[in-house]
Amino acid sequence: MFGAQEKKRKEKKRMSKEAAAEYHSKDFEWDQLRREIESDPSLLYHFLLPLDDTHLPSSSQSFSGSVSSSPSQHSDAWNKFHSRHSSGKFFKERRYLLKEFPELLSCDEYSKVLEVGCGNGSTVLPILRGNESITVYSCDCSIEALKRAEEVIDATDLISVKHRFHPFPCDFSISGFPKWLACDSCREVNLQKQDTCLSDVEDKRGAGLNDFTSLKEHKCCLGGVDFVTLIFTLSAVPLHRMPAAIAACFSVLKPGGLLLFRDYGLYDMTMLRFEPDKKVGFREYMRSDGTRSYFFCLDTVRDLFVGSGFTELELEYCCVTSVNRRKGKSMRRVWVHGKFQKSEDARKYSFVFDFGIKLYETEIWSKNIQGRLKRTKRERERERKREKERGRRRLRSVADRRASASVASAMPLLVASAIADRRAPRLRLQSIF
Ligand SMILES: C[S@@+](CC[C@H](N)C(=O)[O-])C[C@H]1O[C@@H](n2cnc3c(N)ncnc32)[C@H](O)[C@@H]1O
Repeated sequence: MFGAQEKKRKEKKRMSKEAAAEYHSKDFEWDQLRREIESDPSLLYHFLLPLDDTHLPSSSQSFSGSVSSSPSQHSDAWNKFHSRHSSGKFFKERRYLLKEFPELLSCDEYSKVLEVGCGNGSTVLPILRGNESITVYSCDCSIEALKRAEEVIDATDLISVKHRFHPFPCDFSISGFPKWLACDSCREVNLQKQDTCLSDVEDKRGAGLNDFTSLKEHKCCLGGVDFVTLIFTLSAVPLHRMPAAIAACFSVLKPGGLLLFRDYGLYDMTMLRFEPDKKVGFREYMRSDGTRSYFFCLDTVRDLFVGSGFTELELEYCCVTSVNRRKGKSMRRVWVHGKFQKSEDARKYSFVFDFGIKLYETEIWSKNIQGRLKRTKRERERERKREKERGRRRLRSVADRRASASVASAMPLLVASAIADRRAPRLRLQSIF
């Protein structure tokens, strides 16, 4: 009796907190922050292209110019991360999500959500609580994360939540998603219903799921999902694997379905805190525990998603000043908010999607990074000297061309290229590293 009352009281408190929570997304202008950061010489190392990152050990760099980690190293790092942060204190329910993505509340009955990289369930729980008819399939490359998420969901006071939560292990950037979500023929023919496909059922069993109800209803697979949520997950995937990861999300969405995106934005306070030795690629950093983080500008997000066939519905920076009262410090946080749709006429996009990825790879990596592998150090030095002779104007146009690959805004590249090419600042840079 007492337990039930206590639960009710907690739930009431939680709901009133939620109602009181102010929803800010424009405490400051992102452009103003950008100008400040880009004129601060102590932060120069953040703007260098992989080509300029001579301090990085070349043997550990992948073709994308970033330091690579194998899939098992990647999931091991996240396993360790989740083992270390297993206490309830680390769990923070993302209550703001339903305000940012109200479609999760207003969608059709029995809609399906795929939460990718669910971690300890911070995104799953508010979705399940907020909509009583929604089902959430959630994956993570870390088994430890899935255990944490299950514990969190088990500990909730709402019984109806547990039956609608289906966790499974998966590194979506390597293997894509299991076929029981959307089998090959369904992907191919725009999710037409097919006869039962045994291999898909095997896949589902292998993934450790024991609820076959929805599979029976759809026969060969679930027929895709209505929503994919990518909440602070894509930034953890190495840059060169992002196009494949997004392609996987595209392939399991139903036509008309939405991809809801939120992640770290360029010049977020946590990016600026990384020391030079944590930089593993352009705007990519690796923490001491081996987990990585990329910081997105809007152009990169747009290129990745639109290049994969999605239609952009919303894309903006959320700029929030949060205050640490204990330390008396204010912190400027930058996140990217995005909403992308898979067209109703999904087949139309299969060509665009292939093309988009090729375009992305060609523009960014073939030009900048594959060249790096081919050219010898001496050749690069000669080229650098030639460029220097051609003067500042030439440098600006090089920077502009690189920036047109949309992985960068023109200004930091211009500053980085210009300064990295002058002897004195170069020496200063080396001493920083
Ligand atoms: C910062 S957490 C975000 C968790 C959750 N989405 C949330 O809203 O709190 C990133 C999660 O992505 C997972 N992850 C990283 N790379 C992944 C990959 N390639 N495939 C699946 N999960 C991945 C990590 O294990 C981690 O749990």
